[in-house]
Amino acid sequence: MIGTMTMLERAEAAERAMSEELDRVIVKSVLYTSGELDPTKPAVRPPDGGRLYLMGPDPRLPRMPEKPTILDFFKYRFAPANHLLQSARLAQKSGASEKIILACLLHDIAIAGFIRSDHGYWAAQLLEPYVDEEVSWAIRYHQALRFFADESVGYRYPDMYVKLFGPDYKPEPHIERAYREAREHKWYMSSRLICVNDLYSFDPNVHVRLEEFTDIVGRNFKQPKEGLGFDGSPTAHMWRTIIAPTKYL
Ligand SMILES: [Fe+2]
Ligand SMILES: [Fe+2]
Repeated sequence: MIGTMTMLERAEAAERAMSEELDRVIVKSVLYTSGELDPTKPAVRPPDGGRLYLMGPDPRLPRMPEKPTILDFFKYRFAPANHLLQSARLAQKSGASEKIILACLLHDIAIAGFIRSDHGYWAAQLLEPYVDEEVSWAIRYHQALRFFADESVGYRYPDMYVKLFGPDYKPEPHIERAYREAREHKWYMSSRLICVNDLYSFDPNVHVRLEEFTDIVGRNFKQPKEGLGFDGSPTAHMWRTIIAPTKYL
């Protein structure tokens, strides 16, 4: 009976719940181990010893609030988000619109907290229900535009890519197609501006605070009142997976 519990009893109950949670079997999704383990072979599991499987938040991760906001995801799942914060700051300093600043702030959230491969597409999809169409469009296409120079705005192929992928790397055909599509689109420059502000060599001594963007996020991100993950949007399940990535089902 919660109501009749003393403080001590309540603390003990919370501790018990916590240790039960810690004692659950945690299984990683195939995606996490694919490549390290052969995904075509059955997964070999150590015996669970009769323990229960994790069906809630992973006790090794910071707890998210019950109704998480996009800023909570920055705090508890995307940190450190220096790259995103500095991109947004750069866009802001250049006098970009709030939409572009928001796009810069969010463009790599998939890398920061979800899945690296195809990150522009994942981020755009996650965000689509909550931002202006132009913002998610720009984020989707930055994935392709990053590989193609545009001298008209002083954007060169990144030296970093030569270092990371070698001098002979050629983007895949679907990326090249996406680039050509974007070129013809009315929002081309919005996506291009993400690339322009998307620098890798940041001053490590510059620390941009998330709070600097609270107002821009407040005005341009449609935060659901139920919390991200719980509003029944077409991408709510993706946010829930970021909250609890090791739930058994
Ligand atoms: Fe990116
Ligand atoms: Fe980036």
